[in-house]
Amino acid sequence: MEKIKKIVERAFKERFGGNVEYFVRAPGRVNLIGEHTDYNDGFVFPIAIEQDMWIALRRNTDKQIMLHSLDFPHPVRFSLDEFEHGEGWEEYVKGITWVLKTEGYQLNGWEGVLASDIPVGAGLSSSAAIEMVLLRAFQVVSGFVWDGKRMAQLARKADHEWVGIQSGIMDQLISAEGKTGHALLIDCRTLDIEPVPIPEGVRIVILDTTTRRGLVDSIYNQRVRECCEAADFFGVSSLRDVSVSMIEKQPRGLTGDVYRRARHVVTENARTLAGVEALRKGDVLTFGSLMNESHRSLKEDYEVSSKELDLMADFARQQKGCYGARMTGAGFGGCVVAMVNANDVDAFVPNVRQLYVEETGLEPLIYVTGAMRGASVE
Ligand code: GLA
Repeated sequence: MEKIKKIVERAFKERFGGNVEYFVRAPGRVNLIGEHTDYNDGFVFPIAIEQDMWIALRRNTDKQIMLHSLDFPHPVRFSLDEFEHGEGWEEYVKGITWVLKTEGYQLNGWEGVLASDIPVGAGLSSSAAIEMVLLRAFQVVSGFVWDGKRMAQLARKADHEWVGIQSGIMDQLISAEGKTGHALLIDCRTLDIEPVPIPEGVRIVILDTTTRRGLVDSIYNQRVRECCEAADFFGVSSLRDVSVSMIEKQPRGLTGDVYRRARHVVTENARTLAGVEALRKGDVLTFGSLMNESHRSLKEDYEVSSKELDLMADFARQQKGCYGARMTGAGFGGCVVAMVNANDVDAFVPNVRQLYVEETGLEPLIYVTGAMRGASVE
């Protein structure tokens, strides 16, 4: 948001003196449907949200990176020629630098100030946004060509090989390639992208339960392994290649958790394609019921929901004008996403808040968002 631009500009002048040379930004994301499918070469359907991360920066000639953050502790400072692993948010800065160097990009140094209004740990991809905004910063000062898909792949490589997190490709890709007013159908095998307009008269509402769970990474990695096991069972490279009819008549020898994980992924891919087909025709009712079905599958088959996510989704669905609601992102805590008739959104927000507070004693954070553009130089 433009407000953050002013904040980073002022902070830059205070810390470094002189003028800002460039502003870069990258958004968070929310996924409308297609959950836990990206690392199975499947389909996802996210939007870039209004919450974003900004850097005000200036190129320098001494090959140094000097970055202050208004959100994270201690500034990050290192030489492009030589740096080692650090900790916390610094690892993202170094990971992106490392991946660009490894891939042969010639980099200039820069100094900057970063700030964001993407809540951290809520499942709205503040980590993809930091990677994308850093890639944009390096791109403007170093002058290489911006290719969003390539940048998303580099960010994922930094996650896997420097930061040590097993992520899919969805978050980085939507933060790089988001399109105003559109959700993107992404084929995570080919990285083909099809923008689909969000119908007029519909609002996307993000309902943060404000619950945060530990062990998310280890459960996530366990799900990745279970999916690989199921793909091996079918003799395919990923669950993308398994059809709904193959999974529905439960094959002999595929049982228990692994069977249910696979059933979620295979049916979620089908729901995502059906949902996009419906939305192309403006059929929000069908899209909403597929969102509800996605939630049920994530809860019962994939087992990544939580009590608070289930409650929030239920409270949302009880409201007038709510087409559908589901947990979004990795799960366990974080957010529910709902699709709501624009005429009803003013009542929807306080009603859901009240029900959730009464039931849990927790104050939710609620954002009504449009679909925004991806990482940009401003
Ligand atoms: C996290 C990961 C994504 C994706 C989702 C689940 O957000 O970063 O790549 O796997 O979980 O859909």
